Amino acid sequence: MHLQRTPGTHPRLPSAFAARAVALSLLLALPAFAAQGAGLNGSWRMDVPKPSGVTLHTFLVLHEDGGRVSGTVSPNGSGEIQIRDVRREGDDVAFKIDWGWNFRVRPEGPNLHVVISYDGGGRDEAVAVPVSAEEMRAPQALPLQPVRDLADNGLARTPPMGWNSWNHFAERVDDRIVREAADAMVSSGMKDAGYVCVNIDDTWEAGRDAQGNIVPNKKFPDMKALADYVHAKGLKLGIYSSPGPATCGGYEGSYGHEEQDARTYAAWGIDYLKYDWCSAGRIYPSAQMRPVYQKMGDALERSGRAIVFSLCQYGMEDVWTWGPGVGGNLWRTTGDIADNWKSMSTIGFNQGRLAPYAGPGHWNDPDMLEVGNGGMTVTEYQTHFSLWCMLAAPLMAGNDLRTMSADTRGILTNREVIAVDQDPLGREATRLLAKDGVEVWTKPLQGGGLAIGLFNRNDEEATGSFTWAQAGRIARPAVVRDLWRHSDVAPAADGFGAAVPAHGVVMLAVK
Ligand code: GLA
Repeated sequence: MHLQRTPGTHPRLPSAFAARAVALSLLLALPAFAAQGAGLNGSWRMDVPKPSGVTLHTFLVLHEDGGRVSGTVSPNGSGEIQIRDVRREGDDVAFKIDWGWNFRVRPEGPNLHVVISYDGGGRDEAVAVPVSAEEMRAPQALPLQPVRDLADNGLARTPPMGWNSWNHFAERVDDRIVREAADAMVSSGMKDAGYVCVNIDDTWEAGRDAQGNIVPNKKFPDMKALADYVHAKGLKLGIYSSPGPATCGGYEGSYGHEEQDARTYAAWGIDYLKYDWCSAGRIYPSAQMRPVYQKMGDALERSGRAIVFSLCQYGMEDVWTWGPGVGGNLWRTTGDIADNWKSMSTIGFNQGRLAPYAGPGHWNDPDMLEVGNGGMTVTEYQTHFSLWCMLAAPLMAGNDLRTMSADTRGILTNREVIAVDQDPLGREATRLLAKDGVEVWTKPLQGGGLAIGLFNRNDEEATGSFTWAQAGRIARPAVVRDLWRHSDVAPAADGFGAAVPAHGVVMLAVK
């Protein structure tokens, strides 16, 4: 079954982020005005209580001029996005933002009545209240250390493998689901196949106590006990935060508490941190991204615990050129993946140019896996998994491990394909050739071997082929192994050719 992501917490990137950057400059250019019963004009805060006990705040800045309405929305306080498609519907004004949020607003006394309906289902309705320009102002940029190269933390010599809660559970993740994911990682054979991280993504945070310590919300009653549970299974526990005051989901970020949070994570027994730019974009210019990430890299280093550092800023500022310098073990290279062929294939087949930047300890991250989430066919999920393994990508399963089908388990635990991802040489595949929608990608393996993927991007079956010479071989290799059929094949002396199903793959390893 395909469960929709919880609406309202999932930005559509990178368009949303590009829009935010534009909108932010627009916001700064606008005069600060408070609402004074003057129609839609003003700055508004809408409070939306969540089942976790946390109340999220969405900010609207609207400007009505001669019947024309413009403005921005900061969904869950995570950064401004310009409104578009404004139209009148009876007494209401309707508009949308690129997160897939659709608004209907109407003045109601001194307030604003707001209804948000989310693409994919669900709606929130609330009365937004006027807020002052002061409350709207982004917090100050923190002082940052000069840029320098941090020492390699020695972690992630091969791409990290594990599970992350976001793609399937989004806001619904809680202590029970994480424990059950850990149980299932062991019972399904995933642990034996190499998966080790159990990673909590956004929405675990409540706020801070009187001493400024980060406190989990009621979905996570005892983080240390959860870490102990996960560790007792021989697995590792990951967590999520942002350098900004709010995460992408609008929960508490690490802004101004970087050192303290790193110490807290270490005390809980956290082994992995995904650090998501989000609202930091309201505070720091993109050019300061490196020192901002360095600040947390430094803090993790000083925490006294080995913590994998996962940068999530959607590939801005050529992160692959400075990611290792801030202690990053992996960095997202794209906006968010979605569980469909177009999203997955567009991301996956556009990674080749980043191959020079991957290597032991530091990996390009084209985002987490969607295998088993229901939006693609088994063939397409095989392609997704094969491509990610060719790319030496981190393998973070994003499905419900407790209920996965035999097909899904079969894909996620195909050890011959995983061995390509985890090859100690740590090279990322590049495109060897592309013709009529069929692409051949190659990945050098330790010991002189080569992994070869024949991918068919067409909607119909097609034949893919290459010659040994094209693959850089002087003659037919002694062993050619089909990694999905689990058998050796006997190709022609001059090259290899095969029918590849629509959206499918033939994956080989040659020695
Ligand atoms: C961003 C990230 C996602 C996820 C969400 C959580 O969109 O790119 O992977 O972490 O935030 O809010």
